[in-house]
Amino acid sequence: MMKNEKNPPLDRVDGRMKVTGGAKYFADFAIPNMTYCVIVGSTIARGTITSVDTKKAQGAPGVLGVFTHQNMPPIPGWDGPASKQADGPPPKPDTEEKYRILSSPKILFDGQPIAMVVADTFERATYAASLVKATYSKQTTRTDLEKHKKDEITPRGGDYARGDAKAFESAPVQLESEYTIPIEVHNPMELHGIIAHWTGADQLMVYAKTQGVNSTQQAMAQAFKLDPKNIHVHTEFMGGGFGMGLRTWPQETATVAIAKKVGRPVKLVMHRSQMFTMVGHRPYTAQSIQMGADKNGKLVSIHHAATAETAKYEDFTEATVNMTKFMYDCPNVSTRYRLVRLDRSVPIWMRGPGEATGAFALESAMDEMAHKLNMDPIEFRLKNYSETDPEHNRPYSSKHLKEAYERGAEAIGWKDRKNEPGKSKEDNWLAGYGMSTGVFNAFRWEASARVVLNADGSLVVQSAVTDIGPGTGTALTMIAHNVLDIPFERIKVEYGDTSLPKAPSQGGSAIVSAVGSAVFDTCTKIKNDLFELATKAGAPLAGSKAADLSIENGNVFISNDSSKKVAITELLKANNLPSIAQTADSKGSAELEKYSMYSFSVHFVKVKVNALTGAVRVTKAVSVADSGRIVSPKTAASQMIGGVTGGIGMALTEEAIIDHRYGRFVNNNFADYHVAVHADVPAIETIFIDKPDPIINPMGAKGMGEIALIGFSAAVANAVFNATGKRIRQLPITPDKVM
Ligand code: MOS
Repeated sequence: MMKNEKNPPLDRVDGRMKVTGGAKYFADFAIPNMTYCVIVGSTIARGTITSVDTKKAQGAPGVLGVFTHQNMPPIPGWDGPASKQADGPPPKPDTEEKYRILSSPKILFDGQPIAMVVADTFERATYAASLVKATYSKQTTRTDLEKHKKDEITPRGGDYARGDAKAFESAPVQLESEYTIPIEVHNPMELHGIIAHWTGADQLMVYAKTQGVNSTQQAMAQAFKLDPKNIHVHTEFMGGGFGMGLRTWPQETATVAIAKKVGRPVKLVMHRSQMFTMVGHRPYTAQSIQMGADKNGKLVSIHHAATAETAKYEDFTEATVNMTKFMYDCPNVSTRYRLVRLDRSVPIWMRGPGEATGAFALESAMDEMAHKLNMDPIEFRLKNYSETDPEHNRPYSSKHLKEAYERGAEAIGWKDRKNEPGKSKEDNWLAGYGMSTGVFNAFRWEASARVVLNADGSLVVQSAVTDIGPGTGTALTMIAHNVLDIPFERIKVEYGDTSLPKAPSQGGSAIVSAVGSAVFDTCTKIKNDLFELATKAGAPLAGSKAADLSIENGNVFISNDSSKKVAITELLKANNLPSIAQTADSKGSAELEKYSMYSFSVHFVKVKVNALTGAVRVTKAVSVADSGRIVSPKTAASQMIGGVTGGIGMALTEEAIIDHRYGRFVNNNFADYHVAVHADVPAIETIFIDKPDPIINPMGAKGMGEIALIGFSAAVANAVFNATGKRIRQLPITPDKVM
């Protein structure tokens, strides 16, 4: 187990670099002879290109190539059936259509690339792209899930049930509600794209906006039929990912093919509007909940159904209804998950994927039921608290949710909440409190690390993992420090490059657990090496047993007699070692299978609602995480604040709106798609239970990226109800719905 009680909170190790321009994002890499690619998107969502005129574009200054379905260079790995396509999960055999970029005149979604234009400057490419003109034969466009629900399909694992399916009918207290969440778009600050640079006939260098360099390497290896060793991918920093960088998108692969054809490095940076159509989104999802309880507030049954949009060419599924299966101790539970294939681009995971959507419904319904029962919402949840996982009938690896409820309630001032809605006024605004629970799987994925201890006492930690923003370098520094007690400033973390030991993609709130464990194991090996050097014959601590040794302040010493010690630097020098290097592959044991591993969160908010305008302001937010031991308190708090900020956007403003007559977005920009900004965000208090999980990994750390967002929007909706008496079940909670 890791000690870290004595650690001072460490500032983000790359913070200075990030705010002074020292951190290089993919598009910052300058390569001699660079060229620039701009995508021309379709202006229809369904139909066929009847003509595409590229003559003017080709003749424009600086243009090096205009690529359409008529002259797109081949992507050799895509020559086979489209199901072999290497840009993500293979299309299910039963999807109606295939999408392969610039390979056919068929248009399957709004903004689908119809041309990629390459020129010697970005401005010239942009101008030339504006000269590409296409004509289309349009077909009837279906983008509205509400209209086409009857066309649902059942993905694998679409249904779940335990107990009595009819229990609801005889439940003394019944609730039936419907909820929708709109299309949400990740919209990280950094735009998506790639730099493709063929450094030899079969040697590829890629700077990409990806959450996993190894996964991009693999995708490119398949697409171009190359040995992964010949592909070098670098992504050290990312200006936010939120899930959109968890696959290699077709336009990235196309850029690599085009770079080969053009014979020069090609940089693609997408336009903000293209971030709405080409790099995934959170799918529009309609949900319904049927909940039954007895008069004392014990849950009798829950049925949770969700129908989400997907593309016609690929089924995207997520765990929307999963939380309902185990969150509460309820004997009769069923869930139903369906997809409707629309003329839309394919969704992808977006922070708290699935659960953020499902928790809005379940945690709103819990609040509605508590109100029906005239119970306090926390009391109602405690009454139905699941001590063990009722879905899998096994213990949780750790669960401190009760304490999270208590501490959050204390911090928000829950005692000031009136259970009867619409009863509190502050400065002429209605005031209310709301809360909700969040949960997300805690994982232990396989990862590797390399650590080098130099004779000067400095340490280098290496992993291919990318930092999408949470502060991975800081957390890994902390873990290495905790094992070897090397001062923070003498530890350097190198990451985000395929030349380094393999790591999973940064996602699923899983990186501290996966890569952190690998770093922990590798540092432990080095510690053991040092103990061996210190105790071998002739060494200063010869005759002592390794088990009796400790390491602190650059010295190896006998634990109960710190006067007997030797400096690490001396040990290396005496043995003529310029450094000690170790690597470790780390993964969970079979023991983990005996447990359900989840991180939990509780969100509390206070809102004010303007009774005249319907404006909702979140005036206070407290989020409590039970995510095991907190390895890096400062960056963990930042991550929680970021998640809550996203949650405020999700609750109040974020909605990508499609004009269903055309199947096209009408607000595909930052002005009309409003992500929460400073003016929307109050001071956010973060509380960590900070109790190590005894099962998941040597640090005892569970994940916390997703739970920072999951459930938050329900807490806001519940607070709006408490303030106004109006229940809003369609996100976002805009003034028109409040009035
Ligand atoms: Mo996250 S949706 O796993 O980037």
